[in-house]
Amino acid sequence: MTSLVLTLTETLRYRGAIGQWSWVLHRISGIGVVFFLTLHVVDTSWSVFYPELYVRAIASYQSPLFTIGEFGLVACVVYHALNGLRIAIMDFKPVWWKYQQRAAVWVLIGTGVILVPVFILMFSHVLKFYSEPDRQVLPLVTVILEQLPFAVGIAAALVGGVIFSGIHGLIAPAKPKDKKAKPQGSRLEGFWWSYMRVSGLLIVPLVFGHLAMMHIIQGVFDITAADFSVVGTTTANASGTAVEFVANRWNYLIGPVAIWRIYDLALLALVVVHGFNGLRLVLTDYTAFSPWLRRGMMYMCVIGAVVLLVLGIGALLSTIDTAAIEMATQAMENLHQ
Ligand code: HEM
Ligand code: HEM
Repeated sequence: MTSLVLTLTETLRYRGAIGQWSWVLHRISGIGVVFFLTLHVVDTSWSVFYPELYVRAIASYQSPLFTIGEFGLVACVVYHALNGLRIAIMDFKPVWWKYQQRAAVWVLIGTGVILVPVFILMFSHVLKFYSEPDRQVLPLVTVILEQLPFAVGIAAALVGGVIFSGIHGLIAPAKPKDKKAKPQGSRLEGFWWSYMRVSGLLIVPLVFGHLAMMHIIQGVFDITAADFSVVGTTTANASGTAVEFVANRWNYLIGPVAIWRIYDLALLALVVVHGFNGLRLVLTDYTAFSPWLRRGMMYMCVIGAVVLLVLGIGALLSTIDTAAIEMATQAMENLHQ
């Protein structure tokens, strides 16, 4: 806790130093995307396991609260990606360290240059949606209440992490430190250090491609546009349900290959492991004062990543049948009643 307070106070006191601000922005943007990803993978799995819930989840995405969040999310991904690339390049090229400050400014400029046209295009989708007559959206209170189960899930992962940490402490109590011994886990940490950089590089095209398809080429509102050709496929969403949208994408074949399933699998594996390892780095940083709590945070991140990978892969390996689309059509009819 003291280190969290120190980070906050020192960041404010140290204002003006671009390096410090870019470190804070990188951290905030990374954590923001991890939280969205948690909701997103769980609710994407509903397109297979609970079609009615998926209809409600996408209706929430199309509400004003989420639309504002969508702009913030895209800004976070773009800034985090550019700044992550800066960190990775600088780490592999120490001779460029003298340009750190200038590079941090270029990251901000680059973020602005990308976001201006992207926001204009995203805004055009929002305007189109709201200019249609009789447009109905979920009320704010409903949207907020629908997110409560996620808060409960995150709290359960936290409690689970702390319990696992307690059990770990009982089974393997800490040994007194041998000052001459090589720091334990340093090779593993070395692996994670490289993983964050390499996975970051691989995530850039995948996540930018995904966001281009969901926000620019088509908008979030087009996920439920009836008879509208589904992005990245040659089929139309006849029922105009979010479930058929996902079914069309996941069933689209190029030769024998379900390309969007493979694409989503690669995105899922890379972002979940990168995001939850990043969350672990942040949380263990602020709990260094208590080995028990620190271990609890680590377990929580492992639980979170495993749950998301199992749900996400489970959904990707399943089929969305016509019964699921019919259930979704029914749920759409009942949505605003
Ligand atoms: C509001 C913004 C977003 C929307 C509307 C959206 C929409 C979707 C949709 C409709 C799917 C279903 C599969 C498909 O059509 O390919 C999907 C899957 C997926 N999205 Fe997004 N996406 C958004 C942002 C993101 C971001 C920022 C990330 C990464 C950090 C992400 C990661 C994924 C992953 C990993 C899957 C596969 C999930 C699974 O296997 O169950 N999405 N997304
Ligand atoms: C788009 C491409 C991305 C790149 C190039 C990238 C790059 C990086 C790099 C290099 C680091 C290590 C920073 C350090 O050690 O100081 C990092 C940390 C992190 N990343 Fe990413 N990342 C990307 C996407 C994501 C996504 C999609 C998420 C969320 C799901 C995420 C969440 C995090 C978190 C939480 C941290 C820890 C921040 C900290 O320690 O302060 N990143 N990222």
